[in-house]
Formats: sequence, structure tokens, C-alpha cells
Amino acid sequence: MKFIIGKEDERKVKTDALVLAAFKGEGISGDLKDIDKSLGGELKTLIESEKFDGETGKAVLLGSTFGRIGARRVLVVGLGEKRVMGSAALRKAGIVSAKKLRKSSGAIAFGSEFSKKPGYVRALAEGLYLGSYEFNKYKSGDNGGSRLSEVILSSDGLNEKRLAAETGLAKTIGESTNLVRDLVNEPPVYMTPTKLAETAESIADEGGLKCEIFGPDEIERRGMRGIQAVTAGSDQEPRFIHLTYEPAKRPSKTVAIVGKGITFDSGGLCIKPADSMRTMKMDMAGAAAVLGVMKALPVLKPRVRVHGLIASCENMTGPKAYKPDDVIKAYNGKTIEVINTDAEGRVVLSDALSYAVELKAAEIVDMATLTGACIVGLGLYTAGVMGNDPRLVGKILKAAGEAGEKIWELPLDDELRADIKSDVADIKNAGSRWGGAITAAMFLENFVGETPWAHIDLAGPAYAEREGEFSPKGGTGFGVRTIIDYILGL
Ligand code: BES
Ligand code: MN
Ligand code: ZN
Repeated sequence: MKFIIGKEDERKVKTDALVLAAFKGEGISGDLKDIDKSLGGELKTLIESEKFDGETGKAVLLGSTFGRIGARRVLVVGLGEKRVMGSAALRKAGIVSAKKLRKSSGAIAFGSEFSKKPGYVRALAEGLYLGSYEFNKYKSGDNGGSRLSEVILSSDGLNEKRLAAETGLAKTIGESTNLVRDLVNEPPVYMTPTKLAETAESIADEGGLKCEIFGPDEIERRGMRGIQAVTAGSDQEPRFIHLTYEPAKRPSKTVAIVGKGITFDSGGLCIKPADSMRTMKMDMAGAAAVLGVMKALPVLKPRVRVHGLIASCENMTGPKAYKPDDVIKAYNGKTIEVINTDAEGRVVLSDALSYAVELKAAEIVDMATLTGACIVGLGLYTAGVMGNDPRLVGKILKAAGEAGEKIWELPLDDELRADIKSDVADIKNAGSRWGGAITAAMFLENFVGETPWAHIDLAGPAYAEREGEFSPKGGTGFGVRTIIDYILGL
């Protein structure tokens, strides 16, 4: 996508579509008024007949301008109430504009409201990248994807330097998010642990990251027995992935981001019913988000060292599969009693988190599609965050707010801890049904020692079974923007 500063009057600019802003309760005003005049009141008629009132992220399309203005179509997008309008509304406007126009339009122009203030263009452009996304690799026929290629912006305050800085940032973040969506959408026969590791390698090559990958022998030799146990039932080789972003100057801090990379979760011997097994290709969404963040860092250049760690394997049944009643010794020496083989995410994460502690990370954040219980508690669109350090959890919540991703804190609960106490080992991998997202987090807590740690359970928002207003069907890329914001804020 190319972004340019428009020099012409909005009425004259020759594009496939002109996008104009509407504010809640303001009717036909501002840019809308001039264009409506040129169009002989057509916009007003449309807006009234659609009962459109400038609500955030809503839009109406005038399909033809009959040559009365330069643009062939006009899309009116709501930015909500003018007083509180900010980045969130602009990102949504970008998404909605791209969704409505990506098939029909190559060049589009935006009214001046969309680029008036610093930060607006970044949010709008981010939205355009996100809204242009389609996954149709496996569909035959003409699926050319988005046609959007040229975006014209103009307002008094906008100059080339600001445009380049803001759209550059948006491109990096948008493309990283879209990569994550691709990785999650790929079928499990293709997106195996091996493929995930190959993807990590090419991201490392491209961005000059350090990359270490452990296969089955190295995983065995190092004593990552959590991963070994979960992978045992599968014919696919496991991978442990370690990427490192090293800043040019001496780092001010070292952090680790850790992802659950189960490329298919059948439940193992405690097998899932067919209906719950479908979509379980998405059980590597935490790992994919880690890769998305690592891809963006060399461009964003924060002054922090970032370790990206991924524990990846399949969770399958078979003669060698790990079993309920098994006892496993994790990487940090703690023993785990297996109650349910479907609680596999926490078992592989036990190794990855202990490894992060060994790297002397000052803060650890993990992302995992860990529990159905988190979806029961918070619904499909909000991730849960839990941790042992209120300050770190606070940073994640703040970053999520800025990034426009919904994350809500759940409490760790000392009384619930009894639920995962084992009679035969240090801890067991599943408790009762109640508070399942919390007991999963408290299981993980055993592997981070004293290190400040936050766990993001993105089982709900990582994947959308239906297309949402602001998200595509399938992988959503959830987590990338929050973690980037968190790292840039360190
Ligand atoms: N990958 C699932 C969690 C999940 C469920 C993600 C639905 C996305 C959508 C996880 O491995 C799992 O199976 N968790 C079990 C844990 C239970 C056996 C203690 C669950 O939530 O049912
Ligand atoms: Mn499972
Ligand atoms: Zn799982």
C-alpha cells in the first residue's frame, strides 16, 4: 500500500472512492457538507434512509457519484462522538474502509478529518492493513485478494515526514499481525512444529535475529520432559524455538515472551469430542503471536533485549502417547502428575517458562490458548491476564488499552491452589472445573520462580469462527499489538 499526500481539492481528486468522516449527532457537517452539495444532496438522502448516525465503525456507501465529483464512490464512515474521538475510532475506521472497499477500489482518498492530528494516520493505516486481510490460499479460482494499493491523505498539519513515520509503523505492525493470521489459518497438516520453526528461521534471517532451534534429540538431552511427554503420541517432531532480538546499544532490560505452540490439540488420550477438536489448529496462536512480535522488533528497534521462546508439538493419541497418571519431571526439576492429557499447554509451557528464567529475563510474558474456562469467563473477544506481579500485569493492561485489544485481569487465588496440589508429585496438571483459567495460571506460576511474570490466556480472541465487525474469520492476530506496545513502553 502506497500512501501519498493529496494536493487537490477533495471534490476533484480522481480515485475509486472518497472516504468521509461522520460524527455522532452532527448530521451533515464539515467535509460531508461540501461533497453533499456537489452531489446534489445524495449523501444526505443516503444517510437518512440508512438511519446512519456516525457511530464508531459503522459505514454507508454511495455506490456511484455519476461524475459529479472526481471520486467514483463515496464511503461515509462513523468516528463516534467528536469529543472523545481518538486512535481507537480511527483504527476501526481504517478496518471498515478496507473491508468495504478492498474488492472494488485500487486508489482511495480520505477526507481531512482522518489525518488532522499526530497519531491519526498511524491508527488509520494500521486499520487499513488489518482490514485488507484475506486468507484464500486454498481456494481455487480468482481470489486476487485486496485491490487497495494507493491511499491519498490530506490535511493542513500533515507533512511527508509525519506521513512516512506513521505509515511505516502501521505497515510493520499491520503486516506482523497479518502474518500471525496466516500462520494460524494454515491447516495443521502444513503448519507443523517443523514448519513453525522454519518460519521462525526465516523471520530471524530477515531481521538479523539470533535463532536457536532444538529438535527431539536436543529437547531430550536438555531435559525438556514436558514437551517430550506431550509430543510422544505424535508422528511430528517437536521443536523448541529461541529467537533473540539484540538492540544496537547496550540493552536497558531483558524480557522474554513465551508462546504455546501446539499445532494441533486433539486432547491426546483424554480425547476431545469432534465438535471441540475442530479449530484446534489454532492452538499455536500464542506461538504465532510471539513470531509476529519478533518480526516487528528489528524495524521498531526498541532498546530492550527480547527473547522469543516457543514450545511446539502436537497433542495426539497413539501407543506412545503420554497418559493420565504419568509423572513428568519438567525442565526446572518440578514433577507434574498428569490428570488430563488435554491440559497439555501448561505442560509444554513449564519447560519454556523455566528456560526463560534461566535466561535471566527481568520480565516474562506468556501467550497461550490455554483454557476453555477463560472463554466461559470472559467470552470470545476478551483475553484474560494473570500474574505474580501487579506492576507487570498493569503494564499489559495499559498496553492492551492503547493497542485496542481487550484484556481483563483474573485473580490468582490462594484458596484455589489446593485444586492443583498432587498426592504423588509436586503439582498436578488439572483441577476441578471451577476457575479453570486461574488454576492453569497458578500451575504456570510454579515455573517462573521469583521472576515477574504475566500470562495472557487468548483462547477466546485468538480465533474467530465467524467474521466480526473488526476482525476477519479465522486467526485474528490477537496479542501482537499489545505486546509490541508493552515492549515499546519499557
Ligand atoms: N487448547 C485448549 C484450550 C482451548 C479451548 C483453546 C477452546 C481454544 C478454544 C487446551 O489445551 C485445553 O484443552 N484445555 C482444557 C483444560 C482442561 C482439560 C483442564 C479445557 O479448557 O477444557
Ligand atoms: Mn488441550
Ligand atoms: Zn491446547
